[in-house]
Amino acid sequence: MIKEILKNISDRKTKVGIVGLGYVGLPLAKEFVKAGFNTVGFDVDHEKISLLRKSQTYIKHIPAQVIKDMNSTGLFSCTDDFSKSSGCDAVIICVPTPLTHQREPDMSYIVSTAESLAPYVRRGQLFSLESTTYPGTTREVLKPILESKTKLKAGKDFHLAFSPEREDPNNKDYSTSTIPKVVGADDKDSLAFAKALYDCIICRTIPVSSAATAEATKLVENIFRSVNIAMVNELKMIFTKMGIDIWEVVDAAKTKPFGYMPFYPGPGLGGHCIPIDPFYLTWKAREFECPTRFIELAGEINTNMPYYVMTRTLEAMNEKGMSLKNSKVLLVGLAYKKNVDDLRESPSFRLWRLLEEKGAKVEYYDPFCPLVPKTREYPEYSGKKSASLKGKKYDLAIIATAHDSVDHSVFAKIAKVVVDTRNAVKGRNVVKA
Ligand SMILES: NC(=O)c1ccc[n+]([C@@H]2O[C@H](COP(=O)([O-])OP(=O)(O)OC[C@H]3O[C@@H](n4cnc5c(N)ncnc54)[C@H](O)[C@@H]3O)[C@@H](O)[C@H]2O)c1
Repeated sequence: MIKEILKNISDRKTKVGIVGLGYVGLPLAKEFVKAGFNTVGFDVDHEKISLLRKSQTYIKHIPAQVIKDMNSTGLFSCTDDFSKSSGCDAVIICVPTPLTHQREPDMSYIVSTAESLAPYVRRGQLFSLESTTYPGTTREVLKPILESKTKLKAGKDFHLAFSPEREDPNNKDYSTSTIPKVVGADDKDSLAFAKALYDCIICRTIPVSSAATAEATKLVENIFRSVNIAMVNELKMIFTKMGIDIWEVVDAAKTKPFGYMPFYPGPGLGGHCIPIDPFYLTWKAREFECPTRFIELAGEINTNMPYYVMTRTLEAMNEKGMSLKNSKVLLVGLAYKKNVDDLRESPSFRLWRLLEEKGAKVEYYDPFCPLVPKTREYPEYSGKKSASLKGKKYDLAIIATAHDSVDHSVFAKIAKVVVDTRNAVKGRNVVKA
């Protein structure tokens, strides 16, 4: 059977289904369409489906023209009807994996996706999970649900793989097809199927010996970032006390051509990956009675960063005989990182709330985020608009995110004190934090 499957892939006769058309699923669908595969997108969000059908977009860095081009090939369609998955030869799952309120893995999206697909599983199909998750998910969560409605077994009757997503939205140097991709499966044919399929759209695939190995690989990558960011944040606090500029130190250190990789401090972690994914492993490690002290410590230091920024802010204002109560504050940069409009888990919201708790009157400025949408954790800011700076003066500006297109020297002119967490501006009234 596998020979025929591989031939179908090379003849572009394989029909691909993508479940979850978000930041990960939509670019993936684009690549499969571009490579000549008949591609069906599945989502539970009717608005997304309706926009895609009208060749409109809902992701800033994927222009409407891209969707138009996909539709014009006649190879792309999208639906919320999961019975159509039986017509797909390969089904790739890219649904969210957040944390619950108790900061434990929220498997509900993977579970409900698997339940929607299970009645339609057919012989020879491939299911490949891409959602970031703890090692064991594919085998322990996805497999039993996919096997539950038919007599078909993974590894025997149908194929099952895990291939982590490394998408970095709006990265100018790398996009879906140019980022090497790890693929893991628990049997030879599943691995061969998944690898051959991804090989058609990705510059290089790296096969590993099991789904769990691939799941672990993704977590290692994100834990590496979380721990290194925490380390440089800790070093920032130490060096600040010593009168040493951490940014100058990192710039000097990175001239070493081997054995060092620069990470930069900031006001705390944001995005839907680095603050969340490490805790998928801490949760699973408990089952094996393994401590996860590095991960927890990194989380603790990074979570504390907005409070550190507040302390530096209070010190800076105190120095000038000012207080935060009733002061006019401009929060610069609401997105969690520069040059994107993504607000998920942004530490700017935490700073905003802390400033208001001290009685400050806060406005924000972010050309990437002109309007604050509804957020689960900060509903009070929904509907707020980015300030117009014309003729404005502030007591304090805090630079939380520094988009490349913003001239940050402006803030040193319109605010009495600037607290800069991104090394974005110089000036006598600028304090780094
Ligand atoms: N965004 C990134 O840069 C990135 C990078 C690496 C890994 N990941 C991982 O990829 C996964 C997806 O992330 P994302 O950023 O694309 O999320 P997203 O929220 O942008 O998109 C997820 C999509 O899945 C849909 N969905 C939810 N439940 C569904 C269901 N039961 N059936 C069908 N569709 C459903 C949602 O409507 C949404 O359109 C997550 O596990 C994430 O951690 C994301």
